[in-house]
Amino acid sequence: MTESKTSLGSIENNKDSIQKAKGKLLPLTIVKIVLVFLALGLGFSIVSMSMARYFWDKSLAMQSITRFQPCIGEETSLEKWIRPPLNLMHKMTDEQLFWRASLVPKVHNFPFKRVPKVAFMFLTRGPLPFLPLWDKFFKEQPHTLYSIYVHTLPSYKPDYPSSSVFHNRQIPSQVAEWGKMSMCDAERRLLANALLDLSNERFVLVSESCVPIVNFSTIYKYFVKSQHSFVGSFDEHSPHGRGRYNWNMAPEVEADQWRKGAQWFEVNRELAVTIVEDHKYYPKFEKFCKPSCYVDEHYFPTMLSIETPALIANRTVTFVDWSRGGAHPATFGKHDITEGFLRKITQGHSCLYNHQNTSLCFLFARKFAPNTLEPLMNLAPMIFGYG
Ligand SMILES: *[C@@H]1O[C@H](CO)[C@@H](O)[C@H](O)[C@H]1NC(C)=O
Ligand SMILES: *[C@@H]1O[C@H](CO)[C@@H](O)[C@H](O)[C@H]1NC(C)=O
Ligand SMILES: *[C@@H]1O[C@H](CO)[C@@H](O)[C@H](O)[C@H]1NC(C)=O
Repeated sequence: MTESKTSLGSIENNKDSIQKAKGKLLPLTIVKIVLVFLALGLGFSIVSMSMARYFWDKSLAMQSITRFQPCIGEETSLEKWIRPPLNLMHKMTDEQLFWRASLVPKVHNFPFKRVPKVAFMFLTRGPLPFLPLWDKFFKEQPHTLYSIYVHTLPSYKPDYPSSSVFHNRQIPSQVAEWGKMSMCDAERRLLANALLDLSNERFVLVSESCVPIVNFSTIYKYFVKSQHSFVGSFDEHSPHGRGRYNWNMAPEVEADQWRKGAQWFEVNRELAVTIVEDHKYYPKFEKFCKPSCYVDEHYFPTMLSIETPALIANRTVTFVDWSRGGAHPATFGKHDITEGFLRKITQGHSCLYNHQNTSLCFLFARKFAPNTLEPLMNLAPMIFGYG
């Protein structure tokens, strides 16, 4: 009995120990199973994430392709040669870019329907204070009529909203200093990048303190129908004009060929190429026009007056107020912006357009302080005809 009891007891004990062992075993297997599921889940999510990214990239690429290139898969057609770059950011040096931009077709008739575009080239330091006004200006205008290029200080990383016409329109930029050759380099860089789009026919340089003072269709027609490019150019017999001429520039530039003009130009495609390809005048200006010779006021006006005098209007289309005197034109502040003041800017001028008298002489005005945005936005619909 005792034996059986003990054996029973030992059985009981065994049962207990089995139960205990089971109790230990059970959580161990659960942990294993959970681990396996965890590993599976992790693996699955990694795979699905990369799949999603792959398809996302692919669909983005498809979107951009379909947006710019209607004839997808026709790499053997003409489309390949006339398509503008998908991405404005590139890794070309200026030397490579200028070479590429200076390629010009010898056959003058385009074997396709080419709608001329106006390239708006923004030469800025940092943010664009008048971005909302420009967005209003471009609103509802077909993308086939204009393109936008922005050159900033390289340290500035813009984040224009995706709803803005400025989104992704930044070009590779370098430091540009007022009155120095680096400023002309930036302007040539803007022209060269814009030349990569074969549809760009007119190229206008604007600054961050500049606003359009007429509507888009007026500007478009004014440029596209003009026989001349709007480069300011005059011969000033003063220390600030001919006084900046350096005799070492001869024979490329003689004293009586020396010209001065505002930095804010507008040129057609032919002149844009002339500027980008120049290697005759550039070294002379780089070497012999340093402050107080402000090269951005002399290089293009002088060069174009020598090379293509008949093609430039010798006037700028950007209004600026020099009446307050000094080395810089007046900056308009918030309290300047009244209906009467803006009417004075837009009216009462007289100039030649295609050899005819006209009162429409200015399409843009500067310099506006950032705090003028609100009053300008309010008055733009009535006075500028947009917004
Ligand atoms: C643009 O302005 C011109 C001149 O003021 C006007 O005749 C034309 O109707 C305007 N165009 C649009 C689309 O508002
Ligand atoms: C601009 O000035 C040049 C002389 O520098 C002259 O030959 C040309 O005819 C002028 N352009 C116009 C449109 O008057
Ligand atoms: C332009 O107007 C001025 C007077 O304001 C006149 O002397 C000149 O002949 C006119 N030019 C043309 C081309 O009509």
